[in-house]
Amino acid sequence: MAGSPDETTHFGSQSVPLGEKQERVNDVFHSVARRYDLMNDLMSAGLHRAWKAALATALSPPKKRAFRHLDVAGGTGDVAFRVLDAGGALTHVTVLDINGDMLEVGRERAGARYDGRIDFVEANAEALPIEDATFDGYTIAFGIRNVPRIDAALREAHRVLRRGGHFLCLEFSNVDLPGLDALYDAYSFNVIPALGGLVTGDAESYRYLVESIRRFPPRAAFARMIGEAGFGRVTHRAMTGGIVAIHSGWKI
Ligand SMILES: C[S@@+](CC[C@H](N)C(=O)[O-])C[C@H]1O[C@@H](n2cnc3c(N)ncnc32)[C@H](O)[C@@H]1O
Repeated sequence: MAGSPDETTHFGSQSVPLGEKQERVNDVFHSVARRYDLMNDLMSAGLHRAWKAALATALSPPKKRAFRHLDVAGGTGDVAFRVLDAGGALTHVTVLDINGDMLEVGRERAGARYDGRIDFVEANAEALPIEDATFDGYTIAFGIRNVPRIDAALREAHRVLRRGGHFLCLEFSNVDLPGLDALYDAYSFNVIPALGGLVTGDAESYRYLVESIRRFPPRAAFARMIGEAGFGRVTHRAMTGGIVAIHSGWKI
């Protein structure tokens, strides 16, 4: 699975050796973990809540049957909590993230609210420490563009899902509403790093965030990658003028 030492990838707008990207991404999230949730609300004017709610609705965990769910790059638990609230008493969510600081915030936020229905695992999306065909659902929200080997993460998603399992990815996308694109660019490149600097003291991490969004494959290309990882009935749905999209695939 390891790339050759000469292979490079994007870290924001820079080209970096494949092996170096993860370390740089980890620095970003170590740096912003404690202020991550506040920044999401400020940057998106609360819209990230509606996008995550749409993700939980797309998953629709059953109310009366057991449902084992894996939320990868789950960070501070936002998606996991929504899946647990949407499901029944038999819904269980594993929050998996490579960054212990983000998971620690998630653990604190969960408190005793979901006792026995949630657990937290520190691991890499590219090599999940999980047996084949374990989960009914898999989500990854605003996570996959941070993963150096996206194809490896998608293959792992397919491997750990049971037949009939649902893969859902919420990610930033391409704004395709005339007028909104220019406004969105101006906001992204000027306001977000400045706001990040003020709130977290780390403007650089938020510059990475904006640049990494621009490097992520367009919806049709990403949908093809999901299909290549083995998923069937692959679809995607843009929201808010294409600022984000939900991608869906099934293990059939
Ligand atoms: C933008 S945050 C998203 C957190 C959460 N899903 C949300 O929507 O609020 C990206 C997360 O991806 C995690 N991450 C980055 N690379 C990862 C990898 N290779 N495997 C697992 N998690 C990773 C980071 O640690 C961070 O918590």
